[in-house]
Amino acid sequence: MSSSYFENMPRIVGHRGACGHAPENTIASFKAAADLGCKSIEIDGMVTADNEAVVCHDTSVNRCTDGMGAVLLKTLSEIQALDAGSKFDPKFQGEKIPTLEETLRVVHDLGMSLNLEIKPASGWQVETTTRIIEVLKEHRPADMKLMFSSFNIEALEVAQKLAPEIERGYLCEVPPSDWERRLKAVGAASLHCHHSFATKEIIEAVQAAGFKFLVYTVNDPKDAKRLLDWNIDGIITDFPDRMFDLA
Ligand code: G3P
Ligand code: MG
Repeated sequence: MSSSYFENMPRIVGHRGACGHAPENTIASFKAAADLGCKSIEIDGMVTADNEAVVCHDTSVNRCTDGMGAVLLKTLSEIQALDAGSKFDPKFQGEKIPTLEETLRVVHDLGMSLNLEIKPASGWQVETTTRIIEVLKEHRPADMKLMFSSFNIEALEVAQKLAPEIERGYLCEVPPSDWERRLKAVGAASLHCHHSFATKEIIEAVQAAGFKFLVYTVNDPKDAKRLLDWNIDGIITDFPDRMFDLA
């Protein structure tokens, strides 16, 4: 079986699981995405003080948990003592920031592929990417389709060096004018930008050069319809259920 993320890639990808429906980047969010019918989700990966890879978007735990402080300054046991569910909705009390290892197992069991965004604290890109790749080499199920994406060029460079077989996506808000040079420099297979900057012209140009084009975070079906009509390869959304009928 091919491990290419892009082979038969679904056009609708859940963001941080399905974070419109459940607390972002938690097991509940991954299960919500699968329950809604997602075949792929995006998540964010970083490391703790004791070099464990965890799934979390912000460099601090402040916004999403009942704790305070930087993920990078807490041990895994300190991180996992936090409640990552109640701030979204009290009914999710007890959800944890998951490890990448657990996430790989759950997402695979749910039959989904993974867009793993490498989200290093600034300055910790080499360490973060290296550890994430170590965990993948040990725990990624052999048949699991997975790609990396990152806003951080150094993270993409390290990923290219240590795990060249895993496809890479170049994340940006606005596609840079020299996008082709930048994508080639890190051997990226795709460009992912904020949906408001995805024009028909840039999508066509990027695809004509042989790259996939994905957009985040599209939550209005009107935007999704326009982008799908322009033949966008993938839409990353907090509300996949709003999009399936369009894809
Ligand atoms: O991968 C797309 C999207 O997740 C990038 O932005 O801030 O949600 O990680 P952010
Ligand atoms: Mg992300």
